[in-house]
Amino acid sequence: MTEPFLSIQHVRKSFGPITVVQDFNLDVEPGEFVSFLGPSGCGKTTVLRMVAGFEEPSAGKIVVAGKDITRLKPNQRNVGMVFQAYALFPNLTVAQNIGFGLKVAGMPKADADRRVAEMLDIIKLPQMGDRYPYQLSGGQQQRIALARAIAPKPKLLLLDEPLSALDAKVRVSLREEIRSIQKKLGITTIFVTHDQEEALSISDRIAVMYGGKAEQVGT
Ligand SMILES: Nc1ncnc2c1ncn2[C@@H]1O[C@H](COP(=O)(O)OP(=O)(O)OP(=O)(O)O)[C@@H](O)[C@H]1O
Ligand SMILES: [Mg+2]
Repeated sequence: MTEPFLSIQHVRKSFGPITVVQDFNLDVEPGEFVSFLGPSGCGKTTVLRMVAGFEEPSAGKIVVAGKDITRLKPNQRNVGMVFQAYALFPNLTVAQNIGFGLKVAGMPKADADRRVAEMLDIIKLPQMGDRYPYQLSGGQQQRIALARAIAPKPKLLLLDEPLSALDAKVRVSLREEIRSIQKKLGITTIFVTHDQEEALSISDRIAVMYGGKAEQVGT
């Protein structure tokens, strides 16, 4: 077995007296696509938020590429995240949304513009850079959210039910697109869903979660 790229070790999270994640353990290989599958409230989003740095674990540690990142701020982690609900900035154009992380990172404008154009091609929405989110369909908005997450070339991509608000047909085509982009970029990915068929169809491995634990992990 190769060295895991992401290692979640004995992670626990409590909010006040309530423990919502308990002794969560998972190793993810470089370039691997792992889905978290489990019922509502079992702790899927909470685990992702701890990996991204939006929540601090109550115990345990999170290691990426051999480095303990448990206490690092989100912007120090090189992690891209797509949230459960569309979270585009409504007052920014598509191009400005995709370029947001590049601007924050201080990338020169000409380079950022080139990267944004490249992203629009990857998600197959060229020519849409000047539109605003309200002028896009739900599926298009989620593709923009994906482009925004991967534009800064994160080492780790976290997708929290990115397809849940879309109709069945768009879901299937977009999940295939996500998988093919992920493979092309070789980016280690965690994908959250509560749809078993969806998890089985696109993952290398699935972590079945229940009551804040990874009950079973496998293909
Ligand atoms: N900030 C918080 N304060 C208190 N409780 C929280 C907080 N965030 C999450 N929880 C609780 O933790 C549990 C797990 O929530 P989480 O969002 O991780 O579930 P989930 O598996 O993502 O569910 P869903 O499929 O509905 O998105 C829930 O019972 C939730 O109410
Ligand atoms: Mg959730």
